[in-house]
Amino acid sequence: ARARITIDRDFTIADVPRRLFGSFVEHMGRCVYTGIFEPGHPQADERGFRRDVLALVDELGPTVVRYPGGNFVSGYRWEDGVGPVAERPRRLDGAWHTVETNAFGLHEFAAWADEAGVEIMEAVNLGTRGVEEARALVEYANHPGGTHWSDLRRANGAEKPFDIRLWCLGNELDGPWQIGHKTAHEYGRLAQETAKAMRLVDPTIELVAVGSSNRQMPTFGTWEHTVLTHAYDEVDYISMHAYYQEHDGDAASFLAEAVDMDAFIDGVVATVDAVKAAGKHRKRVDISFDEWNVWYQRGLDTDDQPHLVARRWREHPRLIEDAYNVTDAVVVGTFLHSLLRHGDRVRIANQAQLVNVIAPIRSEEGGPAWRQSIFWPFARMARLARGRILRLAVDASRIATARHGDVDAVDAAATWDEETGAVALFLANRSLSEPGDVTVDLHGLAATAIRSAEVLTVPEGGDRFTANLAHAQDAVGLVALDAAALVDGSLRATLPPLSWAV
Ligand code: AHR
Repeated sequence: ARARITIDRDFTIADVPRRLFGSFVEHMGRCVYTGIFEPGHPQADERGFRRDVLALVDELGPTVVRYPGGNFVSGYRWEDGVGPVAERPRRLDGAWHTVETNAFGLHEFAAWADEAGVEIMEAVNLGTRGVEEARALVEYANHPGGTHWSDLRRANGAEKPFDIRLWCLGNELDGPWQIGHKTAHEYGRLAQETAKAMRLVDPTIELVAVGSSNRQMPTFGTWEHTVLTHAYDEVDYISMHAYYQEHDGDAASFLAEAVDMDAFIDGVVATVDAVKAAGKHRKRVDISFDEWNVWYQRGLDTDDQPHLVARRWREHPRLIEDAYNVTDAVVVGTFLHSLLRHGDRVRIANQAQLVNVIAPIRSEEGGPAWRQSIFWPFARMARLARGRILRLAVDASRIATARHGDVDAVDAAATWDEETGAVALFLANRSLSEPGDVTVDLHGLAATAIRSAEVLTVPEGGDRFTANLAHAQDAVGLVALDAAALVDGSLRATLPPLSWAV
């Protein structure tokens, strides 16, 4: 495989939206309980926050974290999670067939987010609830004091408002599985009125309307169109969700799924802009890609799938704790490339989820926490993608795939930080058998040195399925990419087969 890439600092897409490196904490499985929060764990602080997990979150570098769901939020009463812990009700969570203790709620999450240095993205329940409960929550979270809800927050120990700017108007309400599933008209009107009422409490908030749960939904496209026809003026973003997996051992197609992500984003942008034109709106609505990842939605053969867990009610059952391998990490790298390439319109993105539940970080109850393979591309891109997103000219050899036709063997994205002069280049070699010879013409950039070059690939003695497990926590990681050099103002690099490099 080979690729010739031209980078010109005059060809940029947008500033790097730092919220592109978001994550997601849902009350689902073991993301909260025994994930970020486990009182009694040897590493827990006095609030029950796992310090070992916090250290990994710090290294991962998410900027914004969506909370508390997901499907969970569509049946959630936020009031259950505030006030004295001993008085909080235990409830049945229908979304994940789980007993929710409510030992962790908004105050705990706000304290955790503060400790982790991340922005909160709060979702309101528009499944079983509506305008009243949503505006009450904004008053509780953001109003300084002197009113019923804001004084209750103060009485519950938070003198200062949580000051939450970013809000999701429900979750996946186009999905028949969702508690409170709605038609596009029903949801569009509800989103419009809820947005209006929330903004009357705090005009500074930013609001995300629910888009399609995935590109395969029968209502995809018309859902976005109808919802925005109602709510265009009241919202700032429309959401996208997408999960991908390898089907029947077809690795070539799996490695090319970012092509689908690119097309999905382009389709939503086109729909949003069509509503803008028809409605003669002035402002722009952008995209919040607030759930994305690799997720092996297997059949009946594993015991952590929601439909099998549903046999009995339990607290924090093991749910969808996918172990990610080398192939998954390369694919996740290409998803981040796709999001970055669309950074002019995708202004927020959240990898789902943060810990244990289809997550870059794993933890065991009473035991260790460690990084999965997919941790690495996220951590490097969150740290290094700064300044402006560059529009690359890529001329690469092609790979034939069953699901996506011919695709580029080498996938790339790059940023340029004018202040520091640093260029960050992210590359994936999709070929399973051939190295990727890459030449990058650094047009108009007086590049003087390669600061660092790292690569994630199949480790020695391993294969493309090698994963980081409790007993082999560092099997997959980044190693130095020695085959990278500056030659006559160009970067020359050789990428191993199946690899992601920075
Ligand atoms: O992230 C797991 C689940 O996937 C979320 O709860 C839901 O929104 C989506 O279907």
